[in-house]
Formats: sequence, C-alpha cells, structure tokens
Amino acid sequence: MQLIDGKATAAQIKSEIARQVQQMIEQGKRRPHLAAILVGHDGGSETYVASKVKACDECGFKSTLIRFESDVTEQELLATIDRLNKDPEVDGFIVQLPLPAHINEQRITEAVNPDKDVDGFHPVNVGRLSIGLPCFHSATPAGIIELLKRYNIPTRGRRAVVIGRSNIVGKPMAALLMSKGIDATVTVCHSATADIADITRSADIIIAALGKPHFVTADMVKDGATVIDVGTTRVPDASRKSGFRLCGDVDFDAVAPKCAFITPVPGGVGPMTITSLMLNTLKAAKGL
Ligand code: GUN
Repeated sequence: MQLIDGKATAAQIKSEIARQVQQMIEQGKRRPHLAAILVGHDGGSETYVASKVKACDECGFKSTLIRFESDVTEQELLATIDRLNKDPEVDGFIVQLPLPAHINEQRITEAVNPDKDVDGFHPVNVGRLSIGLPCFHSATPAGIIELLKRYNIPTRGRRAVVIGRSNIVGKPMAALLMSKGIDATVTVCHSATADIADITRSADIIIAALGKPHFVTADMVKDGATVIDVGTTRVPDASRKSGFRLCGDVDFDAVAPKCAFITPVPGGVGPMTITSLMLNTLKAAKGL
C-alpha cells in the first residue's frame, strides 16, 4: 500500500508555479491576481479563504480579499462581481460558498465572467468540460486527476466508481475521468443507488465524495484498488484546540491494507484542491 501524499505534492506544484511566476516577472509581465469574495463569518469558509490567500503568497500571486457582512444584498454582490469582471488587473476570482439564504447562489455563479471563473462553476465552463473544450475545471476533481497522474496510477480502460453526484465534485469528477486522455470507464453512485458495495467491489479506482464519515468499508473495496477520499466532515473532538477533527468518507484503518494507493484525511485531497485553484489562476493569467 502506498500513501498518496497530497500535502507534499501540493507543495511541489506550488514551487513549480512560483518558478513560472518568476519567469513571467522577468518577461515584464505582472503577477497573476486572484480575488475572493467572502460573505459572513462561517468557520469553514474563513479557513478555506485564509488558505487560498496563503497559497497565493506561496505562488507569488497577488490576492485581494473582499469581505461583506451576511446582510449584504444580492445587488451589492452583483455590482462587485461586475466590477471584478471588468477589472483588467484581476485574472480570476471566486465567490466563497455557501452564501446566506437570501442570496440566489445560481444567479451569483452565472454573473461571473466565464473567462475569470477559476472555480469552474459557471454553466459555460461546466458545458465546455462536458464536451471536451478548454475551460476551468472544478478544483477538487482537477486536484485528484493531478494526484493520479503524478503517482502514475493507470486510468485508461480502468473502472472508476464515483460516490456522490454534487455539482462541484461528483459530476465534474466523472466528466474528467471519462475525458479523452484519462479514458476511465465511470460509474456514478448516489443516495438512490441500490447495493453500492456491489458496484464499488469491481472498481479499480474509488472516489468517495458523499460527505458521510467512514461510509466506505473494507468489504466494499477489492484488493489492489486505489481509494481517493474527498470527505472532510468536521467531527467534535474535545482533545483538539479547534474542538473538531476532519473525518473522511473512508474507514481508512480497515481499507488501507487492501489498497494499492490511498489518500489520507487530512493531507490527501484537501491541499490539492487549493493548488488546483492556483493552477487555474495561472491559466487565467496566461489565457485559457
Ligand atoms: N465552498 C466549498 N468549496 C468551495 C469551492 O471550491 N469554491 C468556492 N467558491 N466555495 C466553496
């Protein structure tokens, strides 16, 4: 069994990006610039956005954080998005989700210029991904593809099973795995799937992205499979300073001995998600 070290891979990629930024500067270009809009003070969102700003520093990017209180109006947010869409000094930007209930998330997502949509959430980017055109790929699935490539895990003609059908992980993960060049045969399981274990047992690659701690157990995994754990459920833990620990969707201790490769939680997929956002921002700065 080989542990997939997302943290080390992410550090490696960030240093590769920093080198490319250095070359851009030497050629007289400006630094790539990522902006983030953060509404309210949700703990998870605060942590994610802080990590994104830190990653920008590590890559040599400029970053701008735009904050609003949770009573911001949709009009105010749309006006800010319009300004960022038109700002030639901003290469890409994200609106951190979730947004308060009175804001229409879909309207916000669709207001972002697809050429600056480094989250890859705009329907234009989702559509371009599904027909194999250049576009921004959702960060978590893109990070997982990067891990599979860098660990030389074969995908062509292999059976991949994605558990979860969310718009930001499950669906784009399936699209990327079946895309030309990756060439996996993909099955998507979800809450209405009958006998998920029967399906996962035939998988060469399992992507667990349903958000249920320890859902994937040893009996669901064949010997020699690769298991990628996207789960990051916060479980109360009084022994931690934060008061919680992150729990994956895979029963790691029981599943790991059967695997060829497996990602840990934390330190697997998580660090790669932010690195993919950095790669997307570099792509936005250079032009798709
Ligand atoms: N909330 C949870 N994941 C994400 C993400 O990848 N991008 C944004 N903008 N918000 C999120």
